[in-house]
Amino acid sequence: MPFAGRHVVLGVSGGIACYKSCTLARRLTEDGAVVDVVLTTAAAEFVRPVTFEALTGRPVLTSLWERDRALAHIGLAKRPDLVILAPATAHLLARAAMGMADDLLTALLLARSGPVLAAPAMNDAMYAHPATQANLKTLAARGWHFVGPEAGPLAEGPSEQPGRMSEPETILATAGRLLVAGGRLQGKTVVVTAGPTREHLDPVRVLTNPSSGRMGYALAAAAYARGADVLLVTGPTGLALPLGVTTHRVETTAEMQRAVQSLVKQAQVLIMAAAPADYRPTTSAATKRPRSNGKVTLELEATPDILATLARPKDCVVVGFALEAGGDGVANARKKLQDKLLDFVILNDALEPGAGFEVATNRVTIIEKGGEPIALPLLSKRDVAEQILDAVERALT
Ligand code: CTP
Repeated sequence: MPFAGRHVVLGVSGGIACYKSCTLARRLTEDGAVVDVVLTTAAAEFVRPVTFEALTGRPVLTSLWERDRALAHIGLAKRPDLVILAPATAHLLARAAMGMADDLLTALLLARSGPVLAAPAMNDAMYAHPATQANLKTLAARGWHFVGPEAGPLAEGPSEQPGRMSEPETILATAGRLLVAGGRLQGKTVVVTAGPTREHLDPVRVLTNPSSGRMGYALAAAAYARGADVLLVTGPTGLALPLGVTTHRVETTAEMQRAVQSLVKQAQVLIMAAAPADYRPTTSAATKRPRSNGKVTLELEATPDILATLARPKDCVVVGFALEAGGDGVANARKKLQDKLLDFVILNDALEPGAGFEVATNRVTIIEKGGEPIALPLLSKRDVAEQILDAVERALT
């Protein structure tokens, strides 16, 4: 977890997006960060310090002139692993770009040499103004990182132009990535497949399976958080797309095969968490088949086995899943590991409560080529994803 035990300063300047900073402060604290909130005078007009104190369990700082806090700005500039500015108003960005130090927040920014992540939030015209754009350029040239702003409704009404602060989850994902810099997945391209595929009997009927896509999406999000460039190939799912990930939507197993075959050329890691449909009708009707009361016989053929037929780059770490329902799971999974030329196979028992399709948890066994199986306890799919990525990182040369 990128935030556990890390020290974060959350600098809040005065804009209506301040209400989202409360969620951000809470989420950072929940994820294990020690969060010092610094409010500008304007921010304290929007949200009272006591709100942030309750959310972070720490005193909130608002002024350079508080008793016993002399030089607080120097400590707050030097110690934290990350300074997040959310919202970063046009005025705050202008003062920071100028190197002003007329309050606690700008003073600490002037003394700061470590990473700063700013989430700009302002009226769309103020954001587009050349003065703001020049300030953003200046700050980016000094190494600041930015997240957003995004297009969408502003306090003063709807807008198609950027200005709205990114959502707390987006800011968290970006901040997490900055904090984990240096891991083995940093800068690596990771292809992840997720979800089921669908094979059409006719335009309105499909053969598919109940895979939710959650395991693959959790892997994609976790790999992104570790600094990887993530390419997600997803079958149809009802899930929100993971942040920061480049997504390729496919429907059939053959489409998934084409996408994976093309994307894997640039990958250092491939994780096949999808549950592609294994069979498709030999013919698919162009129009809806009329319903009939008698028996219907479908002729099916096997879809391509994506992993078994994949031309993969040398040194690409390949992870497959083995969904087993009863029998000797480990032996079956090992066979898939060999037959599909995998480096790892993740054994999933579909019959086990809390594991497999359509649930938020999973119990898996990680089997590495030539290694002993590692049986994990029942965990959230995100925690399973972290364990799998730990194993992948160890295997990356
Ligand atoms: N897989 C694949 N192409 C398919 C079907 C599955 O590449 N057409 C991948 C899955 O994404 C998974 C691995 O192969 O990583 C094993 O999938 P699984 O459904 O457990 O096994 P199958 O190969 O389909 O074999 P069986 O259904 O006989 O257990």
